[in-house]
Amino acid sequence: MNNTNTISNEQEALRQQAIIEELKKRYELEEKKTGRKKTFHIVTFGCQMNSRDSEKISGILKQIGYEETDSEDADFVLYNTCTVRENANNKVYGHLGYIGTLKEKHPSMLVALCGCMMQEPVAVEKIKSKYRFVDIIFGTHNIFKLAELLKTRLESDRMVIDLWKDTNLIVEDLPSDRKFKFKASVNIMYGCNNFCSYCIVPYVRGRERSRDPQDIIEEITALAADGVVEIMLLGQNVNSYGKNLEKPITFAQLLKEIEKIDGIERIRFMTSHPKDLSQDLIDVMRDSQKICNHLHLPLQSGSTRLLKIMNRRYTKEDYLDLVDRIREAVPGISLTTDLIVGFPGETEDDFLETLDVVEKVCFDNAFTFLYSKRTGTPAAAMENQVESSLAKERFDRLLKLVQECAKKSAGKEEHTVQKVLVEEVNAQDSNLLTGRLSNNLLVHFPGDTSLIGKIVDVYLKESKGFYYMGELVTA
Ligand code: SAH
Ligand code: SF4
Ligand code: F3S
Repeated sequence: MNNTNTISNEQEALRQQAIIEELKKRYELEEKKTGRKKTFHIVTFGCQMNSRDSEKISGILKQIGYEETDSEDADFVLYNTCTVRENANNKVYGHLGYIGTLKEKHPSMLVALCGCMMQEPVAVEKIKSKYRFVDIIFGTHNIFKLAELLKTRLESDRMVIDLWKDTNLIVEDLPSDRKFKFKASVNIMYGCNNFCSYCIVPYVRGRERSRDPQDIIEEITALAADGVVEIMLLGQNVNSYGKNLEKPITFAQLLKEIEKIDGIERIRFMTSHPKDLSQDLIDVMRDSQKICNHLHLPLQSGSTRLLKIMNRRYTKEDYLDLVDRIREAVPGISLTTDLIVGFPGETEDDFLETLDVVEKVCFDNAFTFLYSKRTGTPAAAMENQVESSLAKERFDRLLKLVQECAKKSAGKEEHTVQKVLVEEVNAQDSNLLTGRLSNNLLVHFPGDTSLIGKIVDVYLKESKGFYYMGELVTA
């Protein structure tokens, strides 16, 4: 099914809100009878897009009257799936095996699957035949319809499946449940148009759609009024934000507007595609008081030959030049990246080019991935797939170099005083607080819980590799 676009974003939000209210009444009656609220649990796989979507799901369910619980033994269990690599899919099937036996014991339990994996017809067919106990399946484009799908399920006895190929709708003004009071993620765009030849995301998240800048500013202003000091702007390629809007605007311009919002102290964004990272953006980063000292800039491969086949549209030299310009403009910036090993046709020489860039840039950290064949992508049809033992051997060599570099750059700020956003009580030692530096590293230090959500000065006493031990600096 596909939406016909005969209904506006606002109308759709109102329609869903009415269904939420209707379910709320029904659940209140049930609560009176049973003496307890129904519980839900969401298991989220994949990237920050999915985490943000789970906040929306949670917001809708809480408004209906559900209560969140830590355990999968809940009245309503939802799996927000990822399909970027094969092991992401395998994890979902693992959970389904477990929840199937649980549901045999509690037949009234509801199980829903949503997210990127559900946008793949093969996966859905498998679930329909092997996991027949699943109650609701929806995708990445129609999360806002959750209340309606739940209502349909409660009124029928069949598996409810609602999957859209793509959409132009951007339904806002529905509830959302933030994990932290003081920091929030904000979608600035959805989908992806880049079609890197290995990647499934454009197929499961649809075409790139930028949100209206005014809507974004209003959302962030409201978040600031609600106590948020740090925001993370989300998009698969934030650097191409705004290009397709009726009144085009650049990501650099959007950042300048966001910078003006009172109360917002820190701005992060993810992900930056090197091909679209403009000099304007570098200038805005240089001049900004609020943009954090960290940039995630996925390289994927250091071989210009492979980058071309990957359809990344930059060369090794372009990337190195970009890094030089960023470091010149923002000295000390923390740079992290994503790397893929074993892309089809990768030769030893190609791989050495990747090692060369990693060595030259010396990333603060890198996520290294073994290439995973995604059916339907151009790379999956390439004949020269790399043998897995060879890919694994290269992966280990790369990881070693990445770790050496990360070790070298860790501890750069030792013995300095830094601004820290205090996030929570330390999980291991309740006498300590845990906070985050602008460069995204964590610091643990003694302090009072009243500081949570505040930005404070911390002296970084000792580097422990990927985190610091510190001391609060009192004025
Ligand atoms: N939009 C982001 C990436 C999102 S996916 C960007 O372009 O930078 C996150 C990471 O998963 C990618 O950067 C890539 O390194 C990795 N990835 C994507 N598809 C993959 C595949 N088929 N096999 C292995 N890793 C993959
Ligand atoms: Fe995938 Fe490339 Fe889009 Fe990133 S930019 S989501 S890697 S297609
Ligand atoms: Fe993210 Fe995985 Fe989807 S990486 S966009 S959740 S396929």
